[in-house]
Amino acid sequence: MKRRTFLQAGAAAAGGAALLNAWPANASAAALGPAPSTPFAVGVRRYDWRRGSRPCTTYVYYPATGNPGGNPVSNAAVAAGMFPIYNFTHGYGSSPQNSLFIIRALAAAGFIVPAPHFQHDFNDVNNGNTSRDVSEVLTQTLALNGTGPLSGHIDTAVGVGVSGHSLGGMVTHGLLTSWPDSRIISANPQSCVDMGNPSSAVKAKVLFVHGDQDPTTSYNSARQAYAELPPAKAFLTFLGGSHTSFWSDNRFPTTVVDWARWTMYGDTAARDRLPGDATSARTRWEFVPGSDGPAGQRYEAENSPAVCQGTIDSNHAGYSGSGFCNGTSAVGAYSELTVTAVAAGTATLGVRFANGTGAARPASLVVNGSTVATVSFESTGTWTAWSTKTLTAALNTGSNTVRLVSTTAAGLPNVDFIDVR
Ligand code: GCU
Repeated sequence: MKRRTFLQAGAAAAGGAALLNAWPANASAAALGPAPSTPFAVGVRRYDWRRGSRPCTTYVYYPATGNPGGNPVSNAAVAAGMFPIYNFTHGYGSSPQNSLFIIRALAAAGFIVPAPHFQHDFNDVNNGNTSRDVSEVLTQTLALNGTGPLSGHIDTAVGVGVSGHSLGGMVTHGLLTSWPDSRIISANPQSCVDMGNPSSAVKAKVLFVHGDQDPTTSYNSARQAYAELPPAKAFLTFLGGSHTSFWSDNRFPTTVVDWARWTMYGDTAARDRLPGDATSARTRWEFVPGSDGPAGQRYEAENSPAVCQGTIDSNHAGYSGSGFCNGTSAVGAYSELTVTAVAAGTATLGVRFANGTGAARPASLVVNGSTVATVSFESTGTWTAWSTKTLTAALNTGSNTVRLVSTTAAGLPNVDFIDVR
């Protein structure tokens, strides 16, 4: 069946099935806890990236310091914290600047939003070039965590989100199907066309948004795409809506932002707001939540009932939450987190830390009172360079204490959080 029709779009190429094996294993979804609850000002930086000969100029929008509510400010200082990536790709003849109705909402809510500015070409959308361009934009955006003003502010561990409208919606759906990018854990194709069969290489929660009277991209094609995808998935239909009419309906950004909060931050309160966000006499809301699987959880070292023998500090940027544990410089000083396991078994503990000295800071890993490992927290170079150490430990069903205990007089590294999966 020829699925891809969009204005004068030509027949689609065979697709990218041969590429499948070249992609890395699935990014695993982690639940990070509540998304930021107060809006940020929005900053923007331009990057003139390329993919080979193809220009991939991208405006990266991000949470910034300053008063929320205004227009994006070029090169504004980034807000304190660490934020997941949620891309937006515009449609034919448009631009990031013309798409602020959704970009600004995402960035203000606590997302890094790389928005490429493409001179769209229908053939390139249909043969996968533009989807691959977005993959390159995601790679470049993730790399910004290592250098420049956004360094240390990007959550590179959780996976990425992608969204886009019209041709950008097709590019987005293409990244879940014919030209899969396994880093994607959340997606929002808006006014899209079905670009192919779902790829088993991508495990993403997908929200479709479409007007059921769209004369440009067929509602039925997007319905087919929705029907084929496994949960979690949702479809927000604007009844009587055209290709773009929902841009001015506040239900659109509100629903998309809560979708992103749930799927990227693991904010279950945002998920529970979705029906209220989306439902009205002019909309239809369909949601298949599916099973979340063994959801991960983030435990911040500064949040009670965690115990920090030392001080909770916030003077070294790049931490998540409101601070980190700066343990006392002494043998035996500890940072303890209380973590919950839904079932007994081996869990993966991702300990995020910084060690700005030149020497490793060894520690014992003590779980429920028993020392189970010795961990070397190597130098990260500076106190603002955060790194994640992946450990494994057996956990009991229910509550467990996980303690990192310094074994030298230098004390622990600074401890930001532990992700438990
Ligand atoms: C510095 C640094 C602290 C760190 C401490 C240490 O004082 O600012 O954040 O905890 O060194 O050596 O442990």
